[in-house]
Amino acid sequence: MSTDPIVASGLSKSYRSGRIVTPVLRGLSLTLRAGELCLVVGPSGCGKSTLLALLSGLLQPDQGNVVALGRELGRLDAAALDRFRLDHTGFVFQGFNLFPALTALEQVALPLGYLGRSTDVAFARAAAALEEVGLAARRGARPAELSGGEKQRVAIARALAKDPALLFADEPTSALDAANGQIVIDLLHRAARQHGACVVCVSHDPRLIGHADRVLRMEDGMLLSDERHAAPLLSAVTERCP
Ligand SMILES: Nc1ncnc2c1ncn2[C@@H]1O[C@H](COP(=O)(O)OP(=O)(O)OP(=O)(O)O)[C@@H](O)[C@H]1O
Ligand SMILES: [Mg+2]
Repeated sequence: MSTDPIVASGLSKSYRSGRIVTPVLRGLSLTLRAGELCLVVGPSGCGKSTLLALLSGLLQPDQGNVVALGRELGRLDAAALDRFRLDHTGFVFQGFNLFPALTALEQVALPLGYLGRSTDVAFARAAAALEEVGLAARRGARPAELSGGEKQRVAIARALAKDPALLFADEPTSALDAANGQIVIDLLHRAARQHGACVVCVSHDPRLIGHADRVLRMEDGMLLSDERHAAPLLSAVTERCP
């Protein structure tokens, strides 16, 4: 069996609404490596978010299969799939998905509690993750007190705190200005480089292309091209994060 963290074969997916069937993915195959930041680009509606949902087990394909960390996701029952996603995957979205009432530290610690970590361990790991994204000093702040860039860094800290083997990001920079977008992409890059995660990032943002190890271009539910960058740009995130 392959040791690559994600092997997707022949993925097809259509959405049905009454009699109308919209094909979205048409027999797409790809293999993703650990320790790499893979960027998925392509026009709106071409199926990028659908692909992320299939790779992470959020949706099942109509045809084809996804083997993630050696497990065929289509063969797991709902409870096993939930557990797999909780144990091994992290998500970062455009909209941050933070709880308004919780402090940054609590937002990051919460999923660690679901994973069964003790409160002490959860808060220690959460504090370390916030430090990694440069937000140690803002750990007591609630979302309303944070900038957009800071909120996205909290969301990244939350995803990183459990050290997931698979990290998925869907348009994580689109609500951010250039400088904050750069910080976010550097953090995703670091998750791949330093934590060995397989990072898959969907984005419209052309600035991100030079920072990825690999760029997959999609159109109409298929892969148009698959390019590797030998030496992606990486700026020093620690200099940028206060
Ligand atoms: N739950 C759904 N039910 C029906 N159609 C859907 C559903 N989700 C997505 N679609 C359709 O499937 C197609 C692909 O959607 P998807 O969200 O994967 O595209 P995308 O590449 O992520 O686009 P964007 O860049 O705008 O986020 C679109 O035409 C969309 O309208
Ligand atoms: Mg999308």
